[in-house]
Amino acid sequence: MFEIAPSILSADFTKLADEIAAVESGGAKVLHVDVMDGHFVPNITIGLPVVKSLRKATKLTIDTHLMIEEPSRYAVQFVEAGADMVSVHVEADVHLQRTLVAIKEAGAKAGIAINPGTPLSSLEEALPYADFVLLMSVNPGFGGQSFIPTSVDKLRRLKKMIDDRGLSTRIEIDGGIDAGNIAEIVRSGAEIIVAGSAVYGRGNPAEAVRELIDKGTAWA
Ligand code: DX5
Ligand code: ZN
Repeated sequence: MFEIAPSILSADFTKLADEIAAVESGGAKVLHVDVMDGHFVPNITIGLPVVKSLRKATKLTIDTHLMIEEPSRYAVQFVEAGADMVSVHVEADVHLQRTLVAIKEAGAKAGIAINPGTPLSSLEEALPYADFVLLMSVNPGFGGQSFIPTSVDKLRRLKKMIDDRGLSTRIEIDGGIDAGNIAEIVRSGAEIIVAGSAVYGRGNPAEAVRELIDKGTAWA
């Protein structure tokens, strides 16, 4: 089974509650929240106060993707703010295993996010401590970028890496996913599918989520 995780980065922030209700009615179960610090990525987005407000406004699973330097300074605070899933980038954390354990002890699912240019071998040691891996299929920083085609092969290799180790780590994929490529992505082993512009960039977010579920299910 797979889930659609709409990224609110592409939503209209002046009516965020409506935008969230729309994707929920379309069948989304997870809300993807992109946290950017202007250092790890060349963009600044939202932080803890917004996550706290979102927690009061929705029962959807809140998935915070931390694109920030030194994520260990903030990861547990995001759990306390109401996040159900917190991912930190392998490129940003020199004490990754410790951060993953801290996220889990605080009561959330812990994820390792990995950039397109970073080899899967960098996941090896911390993988048993992660509930999920967030595979980036664009270079993080902005919504609306094109899917990097080699990500499909990387996704398949990640799936094999997890299976070979007998782990139950889930795979989330993020960047450039739409109705045209979701089938292949689901077939290749991804279970949580982030979609920003494909959901919020086309006028009817509920319908867009339904279409993604439909196209993904056809090949699941
Ligand atoms: C990119 C973010 C993504 C982004 C996805 O840095 O991590 O979550 O919102 O947007 P789309 O689906 O438009 O590529
Ligand atoms: Zn993201």
